[in-house]
Amino acid sequence: MDKILVLDFGGQYDQLIARRVRDMSVFAQIEPYNKITPEEIKKEGYKGIIFTGGPNSVYDEKSPHYDPEVLNLGIPVLGICYGDQLMAYMAGGEVGSAENSSEYGKTRLYVDESVLFEGVPAEINCFMSHNDFIKKIPAGFKIIAHTDKCPAAGMSNDSKKLYGVQFHPEVTHTEFGDKILENFLIKICNCSRDWDVLGEARKQIEGYKERLKGKKVLLALSGGVDSSVAAMILGKAVGENLTCVFVDHGLLRKDEGDLVERTFNGKFGINLVRVNAQDRFLAKLKGVTEPEKKRKIIGEEFVRVFEEEAKKLGNIDILAQGTIYPDVVESGKGDAAVIKSHHNVGGLPDVISFEEIVEPLRGYFKDEVRRIGTDLGLPKELVWRQPFPGPGLAVRIIGDITEEKLNVLREADAIFREEVGKGLEGKEPNQFFAVLTNTRSVGVMGDARTYGYVVALRAVTTDDFMTAEWTRIPFEVLERASGRITNEVREVSRVVYDISSKPPATVEWE
Ligand code: XMP
Repeated sequence: MDKILVLDFGGQYDQLIARRVRDMSVFAQIEPYNKITPEEIKKEGYKGIIFTGGPNSVYDEKSPHYDPEVLNLGIPVLGICYGDQLMAYMAGGEVGSAENSSEYGKTRLYVDESVLFEGVPAEINCFMSHNDFIKKIPAGFKIIAHTDKCPAAGMSNDSKKLYGVQFHPEVTHTEFGDKILENFLIKICNCSRDWDVLGEARKQIEGYKERLKGKKVLLALSGGVDSSVAAMILGKAVGENLTCVFVDHGLLRKDEGDLVERTFNGKFGINLVRVNAQDRFLAKLKGVTEPEKKRKIIGEEFVRVFEEEAKKLGNIDILAQGTIYPDVVESGKGDAAVIKSHHNVGGLPDVISFEEIVEPLRGYFKDEVRRIGTDLGLPKELVWRQPFPGPGLAVRIIGDITEEKLNVLREADAIFREEVGKGLEGKEPNQFFAVLTNTRSVGVMGDARTYGYVVALRAVTTDDFMTAEWTRIPFEVLERASGRITNEVREVSRVVYDISSKPPATVEWE
């Protein structure tokens, strides 16, 4: 299988580049620039390297640099944005900034004849995001594209197979961006398109059948896409030697626990243990209003419940987790301020003894995980689930949590999701849910004054959940949802719609 290295210099599009490459059936792997040397690149046998974007200037002291030897390995390189400037700098060119040299957003690009631009019209719109520009291309290179402001928006050294573009071909705003990447992969790197995610997953199952023979495997199943698909893969590999523990913390949406149980219990040979721990969680959360404290309590209690169940099961050889590729890539970077401490099962290995951790999905992106899930027969409702936070409804109830509030929120949320599903079928927002605010307001029902909860509805459109736009849901859908919620959920007297994007707001209210 041919593979491409995405050498990450800290740009925001590293994962997008890798996904685009994989979409063309060529395997791509991301490595931070400071975690791999040119010798290791050579040894790994990559067919091509893509330098990602990154910080503003190659001349900043803190900017990432790389051993220029990478340009002499005989492996084709495509530099993008900062990666393009870095390549120019490494090869002896000159990068600079001039008043007015920066470009941002849609920009007209004029391309010359080059194998990189085969099948691309002479003029296209591209997406630019840079301040510096290449003032002087290195010896042995030629200019292959320009814009009105940027004289070297593309450059190449064909004999060494080195290519650079100032714009971002991986971003959909660049017309023919896919064609440009495809030319690099197929015409320049000579990759064969033999990466097939479904074939890969099937091979993995066969591999696990051998490797995990006779071993007892334990998986914490949340019912989310990742842990569900991990359960399918391992279930197919080890059958009843897999036990999935599903902790129902009582903070799930309406009917959710039953759906998970129905899907997995007695199916695919998997043993499912559903732990009904609602009371324990509610008792610990009693009177707690501070969001971070709620998250911590739930995370810790989760570990405790899981640990107790694991002990009951006796010897466990393998602990399995639903870690996916973006988690691996992000943790490799090891930066990012904690805005919210996300609860997942990452803390488990310290408390349970086992031989090995197995993470069947650690090489896959979310959309690939979904395809694998579908291929293995996971029901559509689970494969296409919107994300749901580990701490569940606890972070959607502002203030303290009670059983009554949970019930009110569950009903309102189910109505909203049903109405969005009906009104926007196939075009649902990426995430949509109800929030129970800690405000009460006056209403009138019949002739009587009411004083009920205010429910907020939230829907966002996003690619990656790092940034998100509030979704312009048609008023008729909102109207139906609001009408039904105030009618059918007696405790609610008012419904509001959240029109904040992220940033500055976050997706969840807590
Ligand atoms: P925020 O609120 O941080 O949410 O903008 C971004 C995405 O992450 C989900 N989210 C969580 N997922 N554990 C999770 O597994 C958590 O603690 C958690 N908090 C937020 C949120 O639903 C959204 O999709």
